[in-house]
Amino acid sequence: MNDASSIRIARPMQLFETALVIDYFLNATPEYLNSLGVDPKLVPERALWIARFEQQFALPVEERKVLLVLWELDDKPVGFSSSDKIRFGEEAHMHLHIFNPERRLRGNGTAFVRQTAKIYLETLKLKRLFCEPYALNVAPNRTLQAAGFKYIKTYETTPGLMNFRQPVTQWMLEREAVL
Ligand SMILES: CC(C)(COP(=O)(O)OP(=O)(O)OC[C@H]1O[C@@H](n2cnc3c(N)ncnc32)[C@H](O)[C@@H]1OP(=O)(O)O)[C@@H](O)C(=O)NCCC(=O)NCCS
Repeated sequence: MNDASSIRIARPMQLFETALVIDYFLNATPEYLNSLGVDPKLVPERALWIARFEQQFALPVEERKVLLVLWELDDKPVGFSSSDKIRFGEEAHMHLHIFNPERRLRGNGTAFVRQTAKIYLETLKLKRLFCEPYALNVAPNRTLQAAGFKYIKTYETTPGLMNFRQPVTQWMLEREAVL
């Protein structure tokens, strides 16, 4: 099945929409979080998420530690991307999530990742954009390749505050390849 006839729009997320991100993680099962490389015990409680997002949205883009992009299919939110490890003017890391499993594997992720990469490269004036999914999570690895990212390497790390130590695959998209 494919959603090719639907209109897919990736756009910068507004503060009130971050509730979708918080709900996505707080409502997830431990099994699902594990499949993403996330340790359920390390997912922050709601108040901390809200405070972090409010603080980030108050900053100018040059000073942001996190930038969020909402994915809409026919005007309805279906997923999001976040970016972190931002070095403005240089590089950042992105993450990708479609909320509902029924909306996955329909070509949506590839289309949204392509649009989202342009948003990050332009907004953060990046030279390169990375994504380092859990090596055992097939979906993002296939999607990044389909969206034009180049495979760089596989190595072991603790990618973020919510993750357990894990093997990750590093994918990279250079500015010149897109803009
Ligand atoms: C990762 C994600 C955003 C990809 O979006 P998607 O809409 O499912 O991806 P697409 O339908 O565009 O598929 C892109 C490619 O990946 C492949 N793929 C996607 N999911 C797959 C899976 N579970 N198993 C095997 N291949 C898969 C598709 O077959 C397609 O391959 P092709 O280019 O050879 O045709 C989505 O699957 C998702 O939200 N997964 C759960 C969250 C997650 O794992 N996030 C990653 C955290 S870093």
